[in-house]
This record gives sequence, C-alpha cells and structure tokens, in this order.
Amino acid sequence: MLHSDSHLPSLARCALFLSLLLGFGACTQQATKPRYTIGFSQCTNGDAWRQAMLAGMKKELSFYPEVNFRIKDAKYSSALQEQQIKEFLREGIDLLIVSANESEPVTPIVEEAYNRGIPVVILDRRTTSKLYTAYVGGNNVEVGQTAGNYVAGLLGQRGQVLEVLGAPGSSPATDRHQGFVQALAAYPQLQLVAQVNSNWERPSVLERLPAVLRAHPEVDLIFAHNDRIALGAYQVCKQLRLANRVRIVGVDGMPGPHGGIQLVQDGILKATLLYPPGGEEAIRMAMRILRKQPYDKENILGTMVIDSTNVQTMKLQTEKLASQQQDIQRQQQLLRRQRATYASQQTVLYVLAAALLGAAVLGLIAFRAFRANRRSNRKLELQNQEILSQRNQIQEFAEQAKVETEAKLRFFTNFSHELRTPLTLILGPVEEMLTSNPDLPATHRHDLGLIRRNAQRLLQLVNQLMDFRKIDVGKMPVRATEGNLVAFVREIMDVFEKPARQRGISLRFLPSEPVIRLWFDVNILDKVFFNLLSNALKFTPDRGQITVSIQLVPAENGVRVSVEDTGRGISEQDRAHIFEWFYQGQQSAARGSGMGLALALGLTRLHLGQLTFTSQPGQGSTFIVTLPLELPPALKLLDAAPQATPAFALEEGIAPAATAGEPAAYGSSEALVLVIEDNPDVNAFLTQKLQPHFQVSSAFDGATGLRLAAESIPDLIVCDVMLPELSGLEVVAQLKGDWRTSHIPVVLLTARNAPEQQVEGVQAGADLYLTKPFNPTFLLESLRTLLANRDKMREHFRRELSVDTVTVAPQRIDQKFLADLTAIVEANLGRSDLSVEDVARSLGISRVQLYRKVKAVLGTGVTDFIQGIRLTKARQLLLDDELNIAEVAYQLGFSSPSYFSTSFKARYQVSPSEFRALHTTPSA
Ligand code: FRU
Repeated sequence: MLHSDSHLPSLARCALFLSLLLGFGACTQQATKPRYTIGFSQCTNGDAWRQAMLAGMKKELSFYPEVNFRIKDAKYSSALQEQQIKEFLREGIDLLIVSANESEPVTPIVEEAYNRGIPVVILDRRTTSKLYTAYVGGNNVEVGQTAGNYVAGLLGQRGQVLEVLGAPGSSPATDRHQGFVQALAAYPQLQLVAQVNSNWERPSVLERLPAVLRAHPEVDLIFAHNDRIALGAYQVCKQLRLANRVRIVGVDGMPGPHGGIQLVQDGILKATLLYPPGGEEAIRMAMRILRKQPYDKENILGTMVIDSTNVQTMKLQTEKLASQQQDIQRQQQLLRRQRATYASQQTVLYVLAAALLGAAVLGLIAFRAFRANRRSNRKLELQNQEILSQRNQIQEFAEQAKVETEAKLRFFTNFSHELRTPLTLILGPVEEMLTSNPDLPATHRHDLGLIRRNAQRLLQLVNQLMDFRKIDVGKMPVRATEGNLVAFVREIMDVFEKPARQRGISLRFLPSEPVIRLWFDVNILDKVFFNLLSNALKFTPDRGQITVSIQLVPAENGVRVSVEDTGRGISEQDRAHIFEWFYQGQQSAARGSGMGLALALGLTRLHLGQLTFTSQPGQGSTFIVTLPLELPPALKLLDAAPQATPAFALEEGIAPAATAGEPAAYGSSEALVLVIEDNPDVNAFLTQKLQPHFQVSSAFDGATGLRLAAESIPDLIVCDVMLPELSGLEVVAQLKGDWRTSHIPVVLLTARNAPEQQVEGVQAGADLYLTKPFNPTFLLESLRTLLANRDKMREHFRRELSVDTVTVAPQRIDQKFLADLTAIVEANLGRSDLSVEDVARSLGISRVQLYRKVKAVLGTGVTDFIQGIRLTKARQLLLDDELNIAEVAYQLGFSSPSYFSTSFKARYQVSPSEFRALHTTPSA
C-alpha cells in the first residue's frame, strides 16, 4: 500500500537535512578553527632580535590558520619561565617551543613537558637535557670559534682581547665563550686578558666594563656576545677615549637603525656575526612535528661574519629582505582580510544555500501538501456531489411520497365523503321504517336497529376522517359563540347516560358552578367531549365510574374540564402514542378507529386549548381539557345566534345522530329543480317523484334546458346524458362555463354505466352521476345532499366575504362572479340610490338572474349583500379618526346617520360610536 503524503515525515526529513547542512557548515567553520595549540615560552621579548624572532614566527604562522599560538614572556626570569611553562601544561598545549633564560633552572619543567608527551622544540637557548624533540638555532660554539678566528685574522694573531659575555647560565653565553676560547687557543700570542659578564643588555656593560677596561687599557679588541652589549662596550671605550684603537666585534647582525649591520657600516663595530633568530624555522619545525612529518632533531642555522667587506651587500640584502618581508606582510594582511571576507562570504553562502535548500524543501512540502489538499478536495467534492445527489434523490422521494400521500389522503377523504350519501340514504329509510311502523315484528326491529347502529357508526367514522383531514390541511374553522359551558357539557353527557346505566357505570357530573359563560365552538367542543366520554366509556369496566368535572382556573385565565374514569389506565408503552392518529393501544382489547383521542387533541388545540392526561395503571385515567376564557375575535362568530346543540346524538350505541350534517331547512317549495330529459315518460316520472319535495320545471332538450337554466337559475339540475342535438355532457359543460349557472349542482342521469362514461360525465363538470334504473329515494337523498353541500359552499363564500378586505381570489367561476360583484358594489358604495337593477346591469344580467345567483351562491339577497359590504367597510372607516360618524354614513351611501347607526348596531350589536371607542386608542 502506498503511504499517503504525511507532512510529519517530510518535516522530519527536512529538519534532518537542515541539521546536516548546518553540521556541514559547522565542519567547514572548524577547518579554520585552531586544531593545534603551540605554547612559546620566551626568555625575554624586550629586544629587537627577539622581536625579529617573533615576527618571523608570526609570518610563518600565517600559513597555519589552524594553529592557536600563545606566547609567554619570562622577562629574563627563570623562575617566571618555569611557572609559565607549568601554566602552559595546565592549560593544555600540543607543542612547546622554549628559549630557556638559563639552561639549568628551566630544564626540569621542559623535561616534564617532554615526558608528558608534549613535543618540545628548543629555540636558540638550550636546556641542559637531551629530552627535547628538536633544536632550532645557531651553533653558538661555532659562533664563538668563528669570532675567535676572525679576531686572530684581524689582529694578525697577536694582541689582547677582552670578552663581554652574555648572561651566565644561558647556553649561548656558555657556548660562544667555549668556541671563542677554543679558537684563540690556536693563537698563542693572542691573549684573552679579561672577561666581563653581562645580562645580555647594554646597561650591565656600561656599569661593569669601565673598571675592567681601565685595568686593561692595552686591550686591542673586545668580543661582545651580542651587538647590543657590543654597542655598550663601544660607548665605554669612547668614554675612556679608547674607541679609536679598540676594535669591537659583536654577534647577531640584525638589520635596522640600531642593528649590528648598521653599527658595522657606521664603523662602531669592526664586525658582527650573523646569528639568525630562527622564528620561521621554529614554526616550520613545530608543524612538521605536529603533522607527524619527518624532521631532524638538530637544525642548525648558519652563521657568517659581516664586516666592512660585505656589510654593504648585507645591508642591501637585508633591506631588500625587509622590504620583501613588508610586502609579504602586506600580502598576508590582504590575504587575511580576503580570508575573512571569504569566510564571511562563505558563511553567507552557506546560510543562503541552507535557506535555498530549506525553501526548496519547504516548497516541495508545500507542493506535496497542495497536491494532497487538492486530492482530498477533489474527493470531498465528489463526496459532496454524491451527498447532494442523494439528498436530491431523497427530496424527490419525499416529494413523491408527499404527493402520493396527499393523493391517497385526498382519495381517502373524497372516498369518505362519497360514503356519506349512501350512508345517509341507508339511515333515512331505516329510520322511517323504525319510527313509522309500530307493528314491526321484534326480529325486524332488532335487525333494523342493528343496521341503524352500524350505519351511524360508519357515518361517525366517515365524519371523523373528514375532520381529521380538515384539521390536517388547516381547513377547519373555529366559529365560537357565547354560551354556558356547563349546560353544554351536561347535554353531551346526557347522551352517554343510557349506555352507562346499561353497564352499571356511574356517570357523575361535578361542575364547580352552575353557569360558566364563555366563547366556544360548539361543533368542535362537542366532538372533543364526545370523544373523551366515548373513550372513558369504552375503557371503564362494568360498574365502574366516570366523573366529569368543570372548574374555573383563574390563574390560567381558563376553564378546565376533566373526564376521569376508573378504567385500567394507560400502559407505559401507550402513553407516548395515544394522541397519534390511528394509534391503537398495545394491549387494547376494545379497539377503536384510533382517531378519537387524536381528533380530540387536534380540535382542542384548534380551539387554543390544551389536552393532557394522567393515568394510574389499574386505577384509571383522567383527560383534562383546558380552554381559554377569551378567544381572539377572529375565532368568534359575532353575528350568529348562540347555539348550544351538540352535533352528535347518541342512540343505543355510541354514534352520531343521523341528522348530523343534514341539509339545512330547505322548504319543499323553496328549491327549484330543473329536469332535462327527452323521454316524456321518464321526464314525467321524475317530475312526479320530485314535486313533493321541490319546485320542478322541465325541458325536453339540451338547448331549452340551457335557456331555462340561465333564465330561472334553478337550485339543481337533473339532466339526461343521451339528449338529441346537444348532449347532456355538453349541457353540463356549458352550464359550468357560464358564471350565471356555474354554481348550480348538476346530476347526470344515464343508462351509460361504463366506468369511463361516468368519468367522462364527472369530467364535464357533473356533480353526481347516477345510472338508470335509479332508486327514486336515492335520487332524492342525493339531491338533498347536493343542496346541503351547496349550503356549505355558500357559507364558505359568505365567510370569505365577511373578512374586512373584501377580496376573493377568482379561482373558480363562482369566485370570479363574487369578485366582480364585490368590485361593482365597492365602486358605487357612496351612492345611496344604488339599486339591484344597477348592479345587475353592470354585470350584464337581469335583476332576477342576479337575485337567484346571489341567493344560490351566498344564501342572501342582493340588498343584504350590498348592505354587508357597506357595513364591513364602515368598520374600516370607523377605525379612521378623521371621519365623524355622519361622514362615514354618507360616504357609504346611507341616507341618514341614524339609519346607518341602526343598521350597524343590528349587525354588530354595538353602535358605530361604541365600536370606535372600543377599537381606537385615545390619543395622548
Ligand atoms: C637576544 C639575545 C641576542 C643573542 C641571543 C642569545 O635576547 O641576547 O642578542 O644573540 O639572545 O640567546
């Protein structure tokens, strides 16, 4: 498996790389860092010869930047020198160069160093020991011998010689003296008459020589161990006026203003013996040793005599050498500077390189991260797309499910609705048979009772289903009227009296007071309490108890009605579900439709109340309805007469009254039915069957039928399908397309009973499709049901018109008619002489047609309708402070303010001024 890009290893790799890089930088730095420490113990650093030695060392060291060179100046003190070498050993050195102040005292510490494994280079002045690594310097015995031989030559091998020695105990002084004496031994007439010790410096000579010289005034030559003390001897000779005669020979042969070469050139010294300081050579030797290169132990630097014969050449050469030396020094300085520059540039370069590499690595990491990021982004995008498409799919499914559910529910509701008519038609004759036939045999009576009970039960279920649907789609209005809730509940309880008694159940009613007046929708609360009581009765065992109590609850500004039973209570499992639609308890023996409690809850909430319950398993349950004492005006049916009649009645079983939802009082003489049937026999039969119940007019063909319909605006039309010329289907289509007749229910009556033919009929706009042969009673009941539905429709339109803004969405032809009518009336409100004729003319119909249309659609007269709009408008105008009541009256076309006030009060129970006072807040 490929490892996915991980930043951590990359970073680790980067860090490792950078540390390696820095390590490399550090290594290159180390190359210029000291690798060797050389300690140089110098007997003195206070004269030109030693300075030259040091300069030579430094010059040579410049080629070895890896050397840490440290020098300690013993200032002619052997004790100090010993101590300083000890310090070197303590501090740690890789090699010791020593120029011993005195051989004897310094030897032990040098030996110790050597014994410790530290290479020792003896420079110029020796110790007494052979325990050293290498010697660099002149051969002082040879120097003494050369001097002796030169002196012999100079003096013609005869004469007196005086020797001024270097510091006693220092090896050059000893060796030079030894060599000098050895040489002189070859010349018997050359006598060393006196010796004077110095400390290698002039003042000691100036101090000691005069006395000795005075003692030996015949001295021809003085051999001094170095040029500095030779100069001192010259000065003494000068003092003693011997300078012209006494020749002086020195050692060192240094260039420079006070050096031996200059002294020879100036004639102060007769000669000087070259004694090279050997600084360069000493360093070179040290490096060979340190680098483990082959080397010689004894490295003798040559000597020669410089006198008048070669002094010029020497001077020139030394000067040239000096200038070359200077050049070299300058070059070295330059080199050093360049090295420093190079080093700093190198550092910068390394830093830059490191930064560059770092940047490259980071860039690489960033690039890889970017790529990984892009990959994961792409992946996320794909996942997103997938999720999105899944979501869309789910949405589609949900949408589809919703549509399907909606369609099913619609079907369900329509189907339920369709059940009502046959149920009503079953209940009607059964009721008639039971009531109009006292001699009915007991078995028949029993069977008919069974039919009635079950039909009633079915009707109740159908009604509940429709209520459920209405609540579900928010189509159930609350129309509250004021009444006594106590009396209302008692009436509902009365219905349960008989079945309770039959089962030995005691039904108790405990109102806290005899009268509790409030606004409530009788239709809604009837269903609520009816269902709660049904439920209690269902679950209370025989000889149990049901208690209904009513109490005012001032704290909640409400009234509480509780229905308490002694049933088996509600199980834990059922508690959460009992209010769900169609839920049937887990162990419910007495199964119901599963709608009762759900409907009660939905209706209570619709009524702005609450329905709760408490239950003790095995002891019983209590359902509590809490209703608000006040309802918002929108839920009040302000201009209706108070009612307190339950919509359900109970007979023997628990079922609604057969009269529930029945047609309103349509007097037989009031409703006009138009029969369009070409068959004279059927036409006559129909007329005969309908005449006892309605006003009937008839036509024998479609065209006549249409004309009659438009003229008389009947309440119902029964039409055959198979008509000559204009078919029944065409008649229906034209009727429904004409706004004057569009509201009229049409029943198509035909022998064509194929399902597709029925569909055709309904599609044409028929409200009912009955097939021949038909049951006259069924036809009659169907017509009644249709009229009842019309009634409801009328109610619906009336309500829509009663809202303050009198606008009706022109969705259907009837609604368009109402909208047109309303618009015409509103445009002419100010006219007190606005007549029905005026309005009919504006609509292009006759006064009678207008009257019948308005009556059919709204159930009111045209004048009432106009008055209604005026009074609705009046409420709006009264809310506006700017008009006084008389102005409102005139503006709305009332002939006088008093007529306006009377009309207003008749409709709204308050006078216009009271209405204004109630609805407007006095301005501060
Ligand atoms: C310098 C010096 C030289 C001499 C040498 C002998 O300190 O006195 O003049 O030749 O030391 O070690």
